[in-house]
Amino acid sequence: MTEAGSTAERVKQQADIVRVVGEYVRLKKTGKDFSGLCPFHQEKTPSFTVSPIKQIFYCFGCGKGGDIFNFVMEMERCEFPDAMRLVAEKCGISIPKPKPSSPAERTQSSVRTTLVEMHREAQTFFVKQLQGTAEGKLARAYLEDRGLEKATIERFGIGYAPSGGDVLLRHLKGKYAEKLLAESGLVSRGEGGRLFDRFRRRITFPIANESGKIVAFGCRALGDDQPKYLNSPETPIYSKSNVLYHLDRAKEALRRSDFAVLVEGYLDAIAVARAGISNVVASCGTSLAEPQIKLLGRFTKRVIVNYDPDTAGQAATERSIAILLEQDFEVRVLALPGKADPDKFIREQGADAYVKLLKESPPYVDYLIARARQMDMTTAEGKLRAVNFLLPYVQKIPNRILRSEWATRIAQQLRLDEPVLRAALSKAATERRGEVKTKPELVGRAAKPVERRLIRMLAEGEGFRSELAQQLQQGQLYLGLETERIFVALIAAGLSGQAVQATEVAAALEERDRRLLYEILFEETNALTWEEAESCVDALRHRQAEKQLADVQRSIEANPAAPEMRDLLQRKQELMRRLAAAR
Ligand code: UTP
Ligand code: MN
Repeated sequence: MTEAGSTAERVKQQADIVRVVGEYVRLKKTGKDFSGLCPFHQEKTPSFTVSPIKQIFYCFGCGKGGDIFNFVMEMERCEFPDAMRLVAEKCGISIPKPKPSSPAERTQSSVRTTLVEMHREAQTFFVKQLQGTAEGKLARAYLEDRGLEKATIERFGIGYAPSGGDVLLRHLKGKYAEKLLAESGLVSRGEGGRLFDRFRRRITFPIANESGKIVAFGCRALGDDQPKYLNSPETPIYSKSNVLYHLDRAKEALRRSDFAVLVEGYLDAIAVARAGISNVVASCGTSLAEPQIKLLGRFTKRVIVNYDPDTAGQAATERSIAILLEQDFEVRVLALPGKADPDKFIREQGADAYVKLLKESPPYVDYLIARARQMDMTTAEGKLRAVNFLLPYVQKIPNRILRSEWATRIAQQLRLDEPVLRAALSKAATERRGEVKTKPELVGRAAKPVERRLIRMLAEGEGFRSELAQQLQQGQLYLGLETERIFVALIAAGLSGQAVQATEVAAALEERDRRLLYEILFEETNALTWEEAESCVDALRHRQAEKQLADVQRSIEANPAAPEMRDLLQRKQELMRRLAAAR
């Protein structure tokens, strides 16, 4: 086990899940467990449960479950290492400072430090080029032409990469090894291995990570050179999908205003920030990635999407809505009139006009209805297409009443028969993952008591778990059961010889199986014994023999003249003997 792994184990063992969860949720003792109103979905009666014995939580309403770390990761929107540190802190458990453990890791971290330093120097260099050179003058004229005055240029660290081909390279060469220069993405390697400046004759926008360190550049051509923007490649310090432009400067405003404006481009973000809305971030290009959303979600869960009003922007808006909803964001959409992107709109109409429209931005469903209405609504097929376009989004509305209101609205707006639409909606709703029902309908009813007991014993049967796993495995006794996939996962864990972590097994399961496993784990039961395990295994053997007998009987009846009839009859006799003996 890795060092980090064992620390996590120790923290988990020493931490008190009830105390930590209790900081977020008002818990009441109910029997052995504690319950409260689920922090992950809206409910009026508590279905959120915490087990101090198993050190796990589970919500019977929305199906979220896991251990103390999963809980904190979900609540704080943070990654595992941060969750572990936080839990340790809350419970007064001391943990070693994270330190790179291997020489390779140490080198990695020093590479990153050097690359950040190199970017800082490049930034200074680009700014000087813009301000103090003859060539930079051209770039300044371009920026001025676009309405960016000196103060804005300075505020956003805008610079200029000259056309020479190796001006930056020569500036950095004395200080850094060639290998590092190439790794930085500031410099490219041409045919024959010669290095040259990646960015030439371009306006430079520094891209900072969350903590404000410059890790990349986005660089715009002065004229019509292609590509319009050339960006840093993926490097040890920069991964496009993990960075949001302007987030480092938006943080405070995001927290204060509790919403974010999401735009496409660097210049859009700059224009919106200048209009007084500092809580703006840009996805840098049209596609928004899930890590970017998770990052943003740590500051606010409300977003106004304001992408370009072109086809690419519309497609990106719809894709973004879907992933934002998946991450539980409240989404509104600002579709600016005309063909203007935020930058152009603000330049032409002024900041006040923009802020006014921003305040009036409708919820995403309104935006989508408007989009659906652009489809051909004169034919039945057209209407069906419009409904199918809307359905996946409407399903994601977590609140039933709201969802119902939207159904009425959609029916009215699209002139559809409301009952028909509702039927389609509720059908889709029952198929929806993580559907929140008013009264949680337990999924576990389907599984028989024998299966439930065995699952419980595979997860918790101290001392006989691996023996049990072996027996079930040998006879393949779980095949065809409702709970087959849960058995497969638990048996694999049981045979591995390591302590079974139910939360880990659960995490790898599909939604339905995962819920079933948690429900079983939370059942009130008496002690688990090997004797009971044996009798449950016998019951499964019996069931298997019965099933095989039925199969054999079917084959016999299907074709009385079958050449293998002798074998079939023999097999039938044997199964009947076995069943009789077990009785
Ligand atoms: P746009 O083409 O909308 O550019 O791309 P823009 O931001 O409005 O810039 P101007 O006003 O034409 O100068 C939006 C964003 O997509 C990324 C950039 O992050 C850009 O800001 N992009 C665009 C690229 O990375 N490469 C490209 O070639 C084009
Ligand atoms: Mn644009």
